[in-house]
Amino acid sequence: MIGPGTSFGVELVRRYGREGFALGVVSRSADTLTRVRDALAAEGLTVAGAVADVTDSAALAGAVERVSAEIGGLTVLVYNAKLSIRGAALTVAAETMNQTLAVNVTGALAAVQVAAGLLDDRAAATILLTTAGPRTEPVAGRFALAVGKAGLAALAEALRPTLAARGIRLRTVVLDGRVGPAGPLRPAQVADHFWQAFAAPRGDVFRLAPVRRDTAVAQLPLEV
Ligand SMILES: NC(=O)c1ccc[n+]([C@@H]2O[C@H](COP(=O)([O-])OP(=O)(O)OC[C@H]3O[C@@H](n4cnc5c(N)ncnc54)[C@H](OP(=O)(O)O)[C@@H]3O)[C@@H](O)[C@H]2O)c1
Repeated sequence: MIGPGTSFGVELVRRYGREGFALGVVSRSADTLTRVRDALAAEGLTVAGAVADVTDSAALAGAVERVSAEIGGLTVLVYNAKLSIRGAALTVAAETMNQTLAVNVTGALAAVQVAAGLLDDRAAATILLTTAGPRTEPVAGRFALAVGKAGLAALAEALRPTLAARGIRLRTVVLDGRVGPAGPLRPAQVADHFWQAFAAPRGDVFRLAPVRRDTAVAQLPLEV
């Protein structure tokens, strides 16, 4: 998993660990790596790790290759890193756009490029890209992120046929709601969704949205 993040990274890695997978994480900071390892060590799960900035494609490639070798080869790669800097469409700085796209889109491409070589001839070879739906954040205040996630989704569509021809499944996981312990999307539910996105025999886009509560709720009569 590249960029485990704070919202559901530990839960996602744990979910795959419980399925018997050897686990690996690439993160920008050593602190994140330590946090994930400590959380899972208590449960007997060990996590191989490397530190790399996804905007340094050579460093990222080296980190993914090292972790892959340490866990005995790659089967699933999850690209989960994101950068979000607040800003509105008509005032956001070009530099903010460039930084955001470097993490959300170009970093994902670099990850796919190195993963493709490692996934050749691997059974069930899969790449999962984390995207977001329009309900997650108001686009107005997170313009750069909205464009970045749209770019990531477009990248997936454009890359899918090339990877499919090599026997590699490229799937997007769309989280269409905020993730947090109090919901509306809960970390364990998101982790399970990421497992299903790998385990499903077919499908390209795996969307998870909160259950809608706007349907009529049956009312008891006032006098019973
Ligand atoms: N949380 C939500 O409500 C929600 C909803 C929809 C979709 N999502 C998506 O789910 C994913 C995780 O969300 P989150 O809330 O857990 O995000 P987060 O806490 O902000 O985590 C982002 C991750 O990206 C890593 N990262 C950022 N810049 C990097 C760089 N230059 N090089 C390497 N790693 C870098 C961070 O590394 P460090 O740990 O080292 O800082 C962190 O692990 C994201 O793709 C997000 O868009 C989240």
